Parts: sequence; structure tokens; C-alpha cells
Amino acid sequence: MRAAILASGNGSNFEAIITAVKKQEIAMEVAFVFSDKKEAFVLERAKNHQVPAVSFSPNEFSSKELYETELLRLLEKHQVEWVILAGYMRIVGPCLLTAFPQRIINIHPSLLPDFPGLHGIRDAFFGKVAQTGVTIHYIDAGIDTGPIIAQEVVEILPNETLESLETKIHQVEHRLYPKVLAEISDNYKGAVK
Ligand code: GAR
Repeated sequence: MRAAILASGNGSNFEAIITAVKKQEIAMEVAFVFSDKKEAFVLERAKNHQVPAVSFSPNEFSSKELYETELLRLLEKHQVEWVILAGYMRIVGPCLLTAFPQRIINIHPSLLPDFPGLHGIRDAFFGKVAQTGVTIHYIDAGIDTGPIIAQEVVEILPNETLESLETKIHQVEHRLYPKVLAEISDNYKGAVK
């Protein structure tokens, strides 16, 4: 499957995915990495892996629709079939949702539907719950509301700090996202044959 990865920040999930792609654990070609933030470290990571890196900001456009139209043009130019969100901190609008129905996947650092939004780890930590986790889901028009593909629980221990919880969540993410993408790419390969 031919995919683009959209990310806004550090890109550790991109790193985990591209590493699995290079080991041929995921039957996926990464056409390019896109970031809505020009300073995002994920763009450096992409270059280090010889993956094309593209960045522009919604601020450069007069509307979100025009921003997404430009992004869609890029996705179509690169013949992208799947869009993988890896720390992309924006709500995906109707332009991309219509173009990629059930073909946009997101990772979120909580057990959805609990703790959606920008601060899933922090909100669970301060929410004093005993368990949180990681969710991988299809994107729909809501905030972290689309159909769930996979979830994994992470315990919040009595002596847990926010930092130790973040580390545990990221460790699960870096294992779970490549595993789920491997399954999706295998199914897709079978379906298009
Ligand atoms: C990840 O924890 C991901 O689950 C989260 O952003 C982080 C990105 O880390 N995404 C969301 O919160 C989406 N609502 P990374 O840039 O190191 O991959």
C-alpha cells in the first residue's frame, strides 16, 4: 500500500513505522512525510531516511479548505492510497475525509473514548485513573471518535510520574502502530490482488 505520513512534531512514531517498513515488516511504501509545522523534527527524520519531506502551514492559506485542497493535490500527485497520522495535531476536514474514506488512520495516546484531544497522556495522568493506553482508529469528522482498530492498556502505577507514563505509552505506540499497519497492509494487498 502506498501511504503518506502526516505529523506535527517529534516523529518517533514515524521512526518506528519507517524502521518496520525498511525491515519489510509492513508492505507499505512511504511516498512522503508531511508536516503542518516547518520546524517539526519529523522532517529531519524523514530526510535521514531518504523519504521526501514536505511542509506548509494552514496559515499560508485563506481557509482550511484551501489548505487541505493543496494537501490533497500533493497526495494525488504521489498516488497515495492511505494516510497515516502520526502525531498530526489537527482535525481532518471534509476535503481529505471525502477523498480517503476509511483510509485515514490515527494513533491516540489514551483508551478512547476516554481522554480525546491534544493531551491524552496528561489528561489521563491527572484524571487519576488506574489504566490508560493507546488507541489506533480510523478518522471521522469528530475529535478522536472514528471506528477503533486496536487498543492496548497501560497501567498507571501508584508511583507513576507523568514522565514515566509518557515513556510507557510511547513504547506501546512504537510496537502497536507498526503491528497494526502490517496487518492492514497485508489485508489490503490481499484485497487488491
Ligand atoms: C503520540 O503520542 C501520538 O499518540 C500523539 O502525539 C504523539 C506524537 O509523538 N497523538 C495525539 O495526541 C493525537 N491526538 P511522535 O511525534 O513522537 O510520534
